[in-house]
Amino acid sequence: MRTGNTRLLLAAMAAALLAGTAPLGAQDAATERGLEQYRKMLKADPWANPGNLDVDRGETLWKTKAGPSNASLEQCDLGKGPGVLDGAFAELPRYFADADRVMDAEARVVWCIEKLQGIARKDAVKPFPGGGRPATDIGAIATYIASKSSGMKFAPHVEHAKEKEMLALGEAIFFRRQGPMDFSCSTCHADDGKRIRLQELPYLSKPAEARKVVGEWPAYRVSSTHVMTMQHRIYDCYWQMRLPRVDYGSDATVALTMYLNHKAAGGEISAPAIKR
Ligand code: HEC
Repeated sequence: MRTGNTRLLLAAMAAALLAGTAPLGAQDAATERGLEQYRKMLKADPWANPGNLDVDRGETLWKTKAGPSNASLEQCDLGKGPGVLDGAFAELPRYFADADRVMDAEARVVWCIEKLQGIARKDAVKPFPGGGRPATDIGAIATYIASKSSGMKFAPHVEHAKEKEMLALGEAIFFRRQGPMDFSCSTCHADDGKRIRLQELPYLSKPAEARKVVGEWPAYRVSSTHVMTMQHRIYDCYWQMRLPRVDYGSDATVALTMYLNHKAAGGEISAPAIKR
């Protein structure tokens, strides 16, 4: 299985290089088919997904006592009551009265680490890993939390005034051009059939497409051989837009996640999925 995948990966990479020089058309279509087959093979055996290692690591971290308070995260309330994990991710981001803030899974984990374990945010939050290095501890915990909604459908919580505000903010940011390149998220993600080199760009403001991809995050990304969370994905797109680094768990990132999950409402969660 593994060597077959590697061979197919090399073939796909070679085909990708060729596609760069060959005229568009038949060659492109053949390359697309090769890549599609490669992804299918990876998905065919769910146990072949290395993202499951982060689910396990996240579960251990969730259950292990840590910090000055020597507490685990098992009493963390993700919106469905302390310690209730099943289905919680499907309704995030949501408003938390105790924090008086709308939070996504990662912002909430940071909050729980601070409040339950007594660890300061600056010590808990680590930079996103480069290629080949594993997701951060919080990333692994978020992957574990998301996996507990796998097979369920997104049912975003948009009731509280602050949730409505967050959704409106997410939509505004998604379409707002900014930065030195004058990009908005919608420059790359609001049309059919757009791509950068071989990478297709999903039409994220279109529910039918959002439903297909948003529920795949956190995802194991084959090209960088690690799990990327949605916070990491958004951070990377901010970088691609040449904007200043966006803060981990900031309102901007939570608002965008709220907007994306809202567009994906009714779509299935399959985290951690495998991406190219
Ligand atoms: C310059 C083009 C560009 C802009 C602007 C951009 N992105 Fe992206 N985005 C990409 C590319 C390229 C990928 C695919 C990355 C990959 O897999 O290597 C991607 C992937 C994504 C994905 C994952 C899609 C999937 O297939 O699962 C999400 C979600 C996303 N972007 C959100 C955003 C948001 C939110 C913004 C605005 C803050 C944004 N992007 C702005 C280029 C862009």
